Amino acid sequence: MSVPPVTDTARALVAGSRGLLAMDESNPTCNTRFSALGIPQTEDARRAYRDWLVSTPGLSEYISGAILYDETIRQRTNAGTPFAQAIADAGIIPGIKVDTGAKDMAGHFGERITEGLDGLRDRLAQYARMGARFAKWRAVITVADGIPSRGCIEANTQALARYAALCQESGLVAIVEPEVLMDGTHTLERCSNVTEEVLRALFGQLYTQGVALEGVLLKPNMVLPGLACPTQEGVDEVADATVRCLLRAVPAAVPGVAFLSGGQPGELASARLNAMNVRFKSRLPWALAFSFARAIQQPALEIWKGERAHVSEAQRALCHRARCNSAARRGEYRFTMEGE
Ligand code: 13P
Repeated sequence: MSVPPVTDTARALVAGSRGLLAMDESNPTCNTRFSALGIPQTEDARRAYRDWLVSTPGLSEYISGAILYDETIRQRTNAGTPFAQAIADAGIIPGIKVDTGAKDMAGHFGERITEGLDGLRDRLAQYARMGARFAKWRAVITVADGIPSRGCIEANTQALARYAALCQESGLVAIVEPEVLMDGTHTLERCSNVTEEVLRALFGQLYTQGVALEGVLLKPNMVLPGLACPTQEGVDEVADATVRCLLRAVPAAVPGVAFLSGGQPGELASARLNAMNVRFKSRLPWALAFSFARAIQQPALEIWKGERAHVSEAQRALCHRARCNSAARRGEYRFTMEGE
């Protein structure tokens, strides 16, 4: 199998110490976050929010790529520029979330299957014409008694692989995101076992579907104890467990791993990524980067609260989290940065 042209884009997304800003919340998810802060849940409020996110001064120093939602890629910034163009003009590679969400899985109580393959070839061609250079698809794996089932893992990883094959046909880098959720009482060890099983299944399916790994980026969860687990391991233990799991399951041909944050507090997500790079960076075949939504956006969103007068301060908060995560890629993040 020859190396696809998307390889250069995949490498560029994880080059140096930049990472990705996931700003691809679906309308319902974005509205939930807005509603918690009393921000109007309208199309124009979502547009205004994404407008100031992408026009944050200096963002491209820390951010290599930004993932948009379908609504946003069809909108224009305040300056009248289509979002994908505005992002590219800012020195950031535009991408697009293309799954249509996780739905209850038939015959699998408590589990979900991500949909969106129907018509995907045509949608990818359209997004590519709009300027997207990479895409993202998220599968959701819940951990509880007796789950995840093999049926859920196989169906979700096969869908990820079919999506990735279609991306490569369209000249888009495929970000494959199999998220093992943090919710639950499970231990770090159980998260590690489930994550390893899911990743092995995923790379098996990618191989079966003929996907060139050089044109893929993996967006996994970190290996963490469940939020309600009584034992919460420290930063170094999380870093060790995560890297051990990835080393067992992720082929060296993959250019980079860009973690999701999954609801971790921003500082902790930075500290854990930092610890992985401090302890392992020189010995890893792939870059360890970030593709965070909440762990970059949340403090800024809480400052903005829908008020035009708060935009500059919110942009500073956004840039701060991006800078902390960029430092974490180099293994240079320190808690003292939080006061700067
Ligand atoms: P979080 O970093 O908030 O988990 O979001 C990442 C993402 O893209 C979810 O699909």
